[in-house]
Amino acid sequence: QHILVLHGPNLNLLGTREPEIYGRQTLADINQHLTQLAHESGAALTAFQSNHEGELVDRVQAAHQDRTDFIIINAAAYTHTSVALRDALAAVDIPFVEVHLSNVNKREPFRHHSYLADTAQGVIAGLGSFGYEAALRYALNS
Ligand code: DQA
Repeated sequence: QHILVLHGPNLNLLGTREPEIYGRQTLADINQHLTQLAHESGAALTAFQSNHEGELVDRVQAAHQDRTDFIIINAAAYTHTSVALRDALAAVDIPFVEVHLSNVNKREPFRHHSYLADTAQGVIAGLGSFGYEAALRYALNS
């Protein structure tokens, strides 16, 4: 099983970025933990972060070629803006779970809408980095 974890803009700053909202774990910490969990289940995990919308679109498209079975995506701010990412996920037709570290529903109204949520298998928000782990365990069971 090949699992792709996609991280959107500013998530490279995790650990120091508004830690009261996003926690103190770095992106490397999170990716390392997820990779280990995947390996324990005999699955392969690739993580990719970009601050550029087009690069995230390219990576989703590439997931079709590299036989990715499942995508875990925290599109960060692009969640609330990107028709392009939504279309890319629809084009490759790979099941995905949307993850947010913070509970976007209790934050500013512009964070309440997601361009991805209605085509996701599920959405996890507000559980911090455990949200990625929960999504991964779901993927490993599917
Ligand atoms: C986020 C929530 C988004 O609204 C925000 O733009 C982010 C991170 C989260 O993980 O809580 O950058 O996706």
